[in-house]
Amino acid sequence: MGIRKVGVVGCGLMGSGIVQTAASCGFEVKVREVNDQFLAKGLSKIEGVLAGAVKKEKMTAAEKDAVMARISGTTRVEDLADCDLVIEAVNENVELKQDLWRRLDALCPATTLFASNTSSIPIRVQAQVTARPDRFVGLHFFNPVPVMKLVEVIRAETTSEATYQAAMEFSKALGKTPVTCIDTAGFIVNRLLVPYLFDAVRALEAGIATAEDIDTGMKLGCGHPMGPLALLDFVGLDTALAISHILFDAFGFPHYKAPKLLEKLVSEGKLGRKSGEGIYKY
Ligand SMILES: NC(=O)c1ccc[n+]([C@@H]2O[C@H](COP(=O)([O-])OP(=O)(O)OC[C@H]3O[C@@H](n4cnc5c(N)ncnc54)[C@H](O)[C@@H]3O)[C@@H](O)[C@H]2O)c1
Repeated sequence: MGIRKVGVVGCGLMGSGIVQTAASCGFEVKVREVNDQFLAKGLSKIEGVLAGAVKKEKMTAAEKDAVMARISGTTRVEDLADCDLVIEAVNENVELKQDLWRRLDALCPATTLFASNTSSIPIRVQAQVTARPDRFVGLHFFNPVPVMKLVEVIRAETTSEATYQAAMEFSKALGKTPVTCIDTAGFIVNRLLVPYLFDAVRALEAGIATAEDIDTGMKLGCGHPMGPLALLDFVGLDTALAISHILFDAFGFPHYKAPKLLEKLVSEGKLGRKSGEGIYKY
């Protein structure tokens, strides 16, 4: 597949997980953040997770050092120009992602593959602002990336067979199980998952039970590892809200519309685990 150097844009929840996973699987990884503070936060999160693995004797200190040595951080987008594959994991915002791809398209050689980790923005909407729509694919990872086995590989109409095969091989090289989906809003998992998560918020709004009991109900009643409200906090309520706008615009079904409580919490800066409070307090 010819991928050795991987560029990752964004070192938040997903970006840091992608960086950690790729470096753990032997790839050289460069990650770009908007400023030194965000970069340091993302890198120290990775360091902390790996230190925890050493403590639990899941890896040696030398292995941890080797993984960290394969990761370099930057705030300059230009530094990603020599990567074989660039994966974006910036916020779920169409203009932000398009601006980024325009810049990267001008910087990277025509051979560099581009991949978006978007949850819901169509790949074609991003690929069309570049001169390489054939070398553009979706790689939708799941949170937490080092743990979750699934990658949705999104094959847009313009994605070439070679790019698609490289994306499948890369996913497998990360120890993941790829599934293939056409370029449709929400792909497979979020198309099915989002209405369920929002119904849980609507159940909470209707006062049918406490948040804890809704979550316990779905965990013990359906064998889910995590309840829907805890999962929303884990995903990030701002990210869930952005996904809902895209799904609702694409399909128009009322079950994709964000519940009022979700909008209220986001407007109050309660974004879930990452901000210390969402549906629950952390
Ligand atoms: N949260 C999830 O569970 C989840 C799962 C799968 C996919 N995604 C998708 O992954 C993407 C990122 O989501 P997240 O949850 O990691 O968000 P996040 O808010 O945790 O992280 C986004 C990061 O991108 C950085 N960023 C913004 N603009 C940038 C730029 N131009 N260059 C470099 N960095 C930039 C921000 O500073 C921030 O650190 C979104 O498209 C989201 O839909 C999220």
